[in-house]
Amino acid sequence: MGKIAVYPGSFDPVTNGHLDLVRRGLRLFDKVIVAIARNGTKDPLFTIEERLEMLQQSFNEMPGVQVDSFEGLLVDYVVKRQADAILRGLRAVSDFEYEFQMALMNRKLNKNVQTVFLVTGLRWIFISSSIIKEAARFGGDVRGMVPDIVCEKLKEKLGVP
Ligand code: PNS
Repeated sequence: MGKIAVYPGSFDPVTNGHLDLVRRGLRLFDKVIVAIARNGTKDPLFTIEERLEMLQQSFNEMPGVQVDSFEGLLVDYVVKRQADAILRGLRAVSDFEYEFQMALMNRKLNKNVQTVFLVTGLRWIFISSSIIKEAARFGGDVRGMVPDIVCEKLKEKLGVP
């Protein structure tokens, strides 16, 4: 069996930064499971089903990627999927503190689960799901920053032209 990584997140919604990170991850891992935390963000814009659909469409031409969701602790899900590591992206210094804390907590919860960080592509360094939602909410054009399906769904959801 090849090496497997779980790439967890809220993906509310998925961005081109996430796609780029998974592409990089596939150079290290044979399979990347992109997994939405069902108990993640408190006030998401999209439902889990909508997020799963956007992820599925965005990754349908990337072999080696599987889309899923999980409930409860990430480390338990990693064990359940027999994965070798958690994959996370680092954009800037501001991400570091939160990511460091989460990686150490996950290691404390299960010392066998490793976290691997990959640095986000420079093109996507300023992009986050939150800033995409903020721009789209006020009619900003987010084409080229998110997959086309996400552009459509954002317009539908926010009722912007
Ligand atoms: O994209 P996000 O919102 O930064 O992702 C955060 C996420 C979903 C990876 C994190 O909140 C998570 O792992 N949630 C599941 C519960 C858990 O195991 N938390 C970390 C240890 S307490």
